[in-house]
Amino acid sequence: MTIIDGKKISNDIKQELKASVEVCRQTVNAVPGLTVIIVGQDPASEVYVRNKAKSCKEIGMNSEVIELPEETSQKKLLSIIETLNKDPEVHGILVQQPLPAHIDEYAVTMAISPSKDVDGFHPENVGQMVLGNLDKCFISCTPYGILELLSRYTIETKGKHCVVVGRSNIVGKPMANLMLQKLRETNCTVTVCHSATRNMTALTRQADILVAAIGRANFITKEMVKPGAVVIDVGINRIEDASRKSGCRLVGDVDYEQVSELASAITPVPGGVGPMTIAMLLKNTLHSFMRAHSIQSL
Ligand SMILES: NC(=O)c1ccc[n+]([C@@H]2O[C@H](COP(=O)([O-])OP(=O)(O)OC[C@H]3O[C@@H](n4cnc5c(N)ncnc54)[C@H](OP(=O)(O)O)[C@@H]3O)[C@@H](O)[C@H]2O)c1
Repeated sequence: MTIIDGKKISNDIKQELKASVEVCRQTVNAVPGLTVIIVGQDPASEVYVRNKAKSCKEIGMNSEVIELPEETSQKKLLSIIETLNKDPEVHGILVQQPLPAHIDEYAVTMAISPSKDVDGFHPENVGQMVLGNLDKCFISCTPYGILELLSRYTIETKGKHCVVVGRSNIVGKPMANLMLQKLRETNCTVTVCHSATRNMTALTRQADILVAAIGRANFITKEMVKPGAVVIDVGINRIEDASRKSGCRLVGDVDYEQVSELASAITPVPGGVGPMTIAMLLKNTLHSFMRAHSIQSL
């Protein structure tokens, strides 16, 4: 059984990106820049934003964090985004979710220029991705990270049955679409399960590649997995654990202890898919910079 080490792969990618950023500096005397906007003081979001800024610095990219108070109006937020859209030193704009209830997430997504939408949430990027024009879009970072893990572990996908559990716009739907792509040669047969799916176990047991993006701790048990399957666990769930100083720990959507006994490969939580999301955000920001500077390859 292979433990798919997302931490190691994400570090490898960051080293590659660091070298590319240095080439950018030497060839066009500029480096990619990512701006992250956070509205309010959600503690988990603050950690994510800090990690993103830290990762940018590690690889030599510029990063700016704009912290706005909870009561910031939607109009004000949209005007800040508009200014960033026009700023030639900003190549990626990310608005950390969740947003306060008075701000419409869709309006925010639509306000970000598709050419700087490094989260890959804008309909233009989603549309190009669904059409298979992967060189003309930004791919949503978590599914993109999973593709990278499959590729770097040389996991054969062509002709395999991939079952994705979850159909969110940021993970499940783009993941299913990407696994279906012919161009990128994922070339899977894809089934998507959700909360209205009947007899889910009969479907998940057919999966050669099972992707769990549900948000329910230890939801996927060994009865739901075919022996030898590749299991990708996207879930990040905090559960109580009295043995820990913090009183809690992180677990995935997959019952790791049970399922790792029969899977051929599995991503752990933490240290699997999670670290890849930031690495791919950085990669998207580099791609945005390259497009802005008409650089074909580095
Ligand atoms: N590793 C990372 O970087 C990363 C990134 C993003 C998210 N995550 C984690 O991944 C998990 C999923 O995130 P998300 O944003 O996709 O969540 P989400 O928007 O809440 O979507 C969850 C999906 O799971 C489905 N679902 C929920 N309960 C189910 C059940 N009992 N049976 C079958 N399907 C069920 C939902 O079905 P319906 O559509 O029918 O409601 C929905 O499609 C969360 O734990 C999140 O923290 C991790």
